[in-house]
Amino acid sequence: MLPMSDGPRHAAIRSRIARCVRRAVKAGAKERLDQSVRARLTGVLDTDAELSGAFAGHVASGAICDLLGVREGADREQLCSAAAAALASAHRDAREEDGRIARLEILMIFSRLVEERGAGLGDDLLSDLVRLQQSDLQLTMQEILYNCYSLLIGGSEEPRYAIVGMLHALSQHPEEWTRLKSGAIPARAAVEEVLRWTCPVLHVARTVVEDTQVGDALLQSGQMVSLWYTSANFDDDVFADASRLILDRESNPHLSFGFGPHFCLGATLARMEVQAVLEALVERVDRIEALGDPRPVYSNFVSGLARLPARLHGRTPRAGQRS
Ligand code: HEM
Repeated sequence: MLPMSDGPRHAAIRSRIARCVRRAVKAGAKERLDQSVRARLTGVLDTDAELSGAFAGHVASGAICDLLGVREGADREQLCSAAAAALASAHRDAREEDGRIARLEILMIFSRLVEERGAGLGDDLLSDLVRLQQSDLQLTMQEILYNCYSLLIGGSEEPRYAIVGMLHALSQHPEEWTRLKSGAIPARAAVEEVLRWTCPVLHVARTVVEDTQVGDALLQSGQMVSLWYTSANFDDDVFADASRLILDRESNPHLSFGFGPHFCLGATLARMEVQAVLEALVERVDRIEALGDPRPVYSNFVSGLARLPARLHGRTPRAGQRS
C-alpha cells in the first residue's frame, strides 16, 4: 500500500497509479461530480437533514467509486459503509474489531471485483490497477487490493470530512458565508482555507532516518515521530490570525495533504469536490442552519463530523426569476 511503503518501489508504483488517477480524473470526473453534487443537494434542500452521511458522504464516495468503476448498487453501498467504519466510528464505544472487520470486508469485496474484471478490463481505475499486474512493475494481487483499499478510504472518508466540516464552518461563520454568497470571494478561492480549517487527517507517522534537531528537540535516527498536520495548520508563526476562518486567505501553505514523496495522490480530485460543493451552495442555497449539536467521529487518525443535523435553505428566487 502506498502510504505504508517507501523507496524506489513506492516511487515507481506511485507514479503509475498517479498517472491512472490523472487519466481517470480527466475523463469526465468534473461533469460527473457537478451532476452528483446537484442531485444530492436537491435531495436535502429545504429539509431537516443529516448532512455528513446523506450529503457529504454520498458526494465523496460517489466520486471515488465512479473513478474506480464500482457501479451504484450493493457493492458500492457495502464498500462505503465499510470505509466509514474502517478507521473511525460514529460511536464512542465502537470495538476495535469493528474496524478490523470493515477493513477485511473492503479487501474481500475488491478481491471479488478484481476477479470479475477478469479479461473484461474497462477504462476505470480498478482495471488500470489490474493491468499493472502484467506491466514491468508486476503488481502482486496483494498490492492491487491494498491500493484499492487505500484509494477507497482516502477518496471517500477524507473529502467527506472536508465537505461536512465546511458546511458546519459556514453555518458558524455567517459573515464568511455572506462574502462567499455575494461573490466577494469566488468559490475557487475558498477551497484552500476549507482544507486548512477542516484538516481531515490528524497526523502521519514517520521514522527518523538521521539525527535531526527540530527546535529544542533532538530526533534520533530510528525513532518514530508523528507529524500533527492539524496542529501545523493552526501555527501562529505561519498563518496570520490562524484561529480565524478567512476564506480568501492570501498565503495558505496548509499541510492537509501532507508533503514530500507521500503527498496526497487525490489532491486534485479532493479540491474539485470541495469546489463543486461550494459552487452549488452559492448557486442554490441562501442559508445554512445547523440544527442541534454536531457529533464528531471517534478515531485516532481522522477528524471530522459523523453527524451534522442541519437545514440548507434554498435560494429564494427574485421576482421574475426562474428557481
Ligand atoms: C480532502 C480530502 C483529502 C485529504 C485531506 C487527504 C489527505 C491525505 C494525507 C494527509 C496523505 C498522507 C500524506 C503524507 O504522508 O505526507 C494522503 C495520502 C494519500 N491520499 Fe489523500 N486526502 C484526501 C483525498 C484523497 C482522495 C480523493 C484520494 C483518492 C483519489 C486520496 C488518495 C490518497 C493516497 C492513495 C495517498 C497515499 C499516497 C502515498 O503514500 O504515496 N486522497 N492523503
